[in-house]
Amino acid sequence: RQRLLSGMQPSADSLHLGNYLGALVNWVRMQDEYEAIYFVPDMHAITVDYDPAELATRTRVTAAQYIAGGIDVDKCTLFVQSHVPEHAELAWVLNCITGFGEASRMTQFKDKTQKHGSDVASVGLFAYPVLMAADILLYRPNGVPVGEDQRQHLELARNLAQRFNYRFGETFVVPEPVIQKEGAKIYDLQLPTAKMSKSAESPAGLINILDNPKQAAKKIKSAVTDAGTEIRFDRETKPGISNLLTIYASLSGKSVEQLVAEYEGRMYGHLKVDLAELVVETLTPIQQRAHGLLDDPAELDRLLARGAEKARGIAAATLADVYDKVGFLRPG
Ligand code: TYM
Repeated sequence: RQRLLSGMQPSADSLHLGNYLGALVNWVRMQDEYEAIYFVPDMHAITVDYDPAELATRTRVTAAQYIAGGIDVDKCTLFVQSHVPEHAELAWVLNCITGFGEASRMTQFKDKTQKHGSDVASVGLFAYPVLMAADILLYRPNGVPVGEDQRQHLELARNLAQRFNYRFGETFVVPEPVIQKEGAKIYDLQLPTAKMSKSAESPAGLINILDNPKQAAKKIKSAVTDAGTEIRFDRETKPGISNLLTIYASLSGKSVEQLVAEYEGRMYGHLKVDLAELVVETLTPIQQRAHGLLDDPAELDRLLARGAEKARGIAAATLADVYDKVGFLRPG
């Protein structure tokens, strides 16, 4: 069986609809067909300003949302990044084959430093994509299911795998990005030209998976729409309606074309009311399951410990191979 790997940062109190539709629904869909490895990249979450008192809880809440969203821990391996020290160890080796200029060209880093200034940005933030490459390459996956915004990071992971293999001998599998068409990029509901993100300018632009369902419905109903009245997909002139159509399509499993045909001659308001209802129907059971899991954190921690043990079995073997190849003296 082919292997998949992916992760989502525990950097907020909840995942958002972009994480859910851009990543989690695909993870769930693929867990039957592939040997899937999913993890919570908590080490990535400390690359920016954060509250240490909240991180452990956010890590649990993130893992709970994976499971509540449909990840089956009996089919997949589910773990927390910092429980498997090989991630940091491989990242160091990969740092040493990454060009400074190459890392400087990562657009997410450039965007963040432009916004906050390069003195605020940590070296950890700079090296973040290299840690992500280590996360991936340690497990030699064939595919990495992510949203469109992670494409460049994945390209770096591919380049580093090829470079390492060339320089030190065949070691890593060069992974393919797995980016779905529908849902690959969900936009902010109030600013539908910017991607939906936890750092949204207005909370009304962002739907969190753990939002009160009534509030989530309200956010859909008050989403910014475009001039005109026709319901049609056009990212350029109708970014608001196009975003709602994308969300609707991903949640319902229908295609955008099908929805456009269904809503012909109807108004924006009709689409919003139906979509709001669908959002509530989707979020409610996920929230119930997530809260159920969080009621027993000890049990959740046990599941994660079991996952980390499975993950280490794979990661330790790859790292030993890497340490041999780069020429480290192995302990006798
Ligand atoms: P993160 O935590 O920002 O996002 C998690 C996943 O959600 C997707 N995503 C979106 N998809 C569609 N529309 C959006 N508005 C949207 N926002 C986020 C992301 O593409 C991603 O798939 N660096 C990664 C985490 C990571 C990782 C890894 C991923 C660390 N190591 C190894 C894969 C493999 C990140 O910050 O994603």
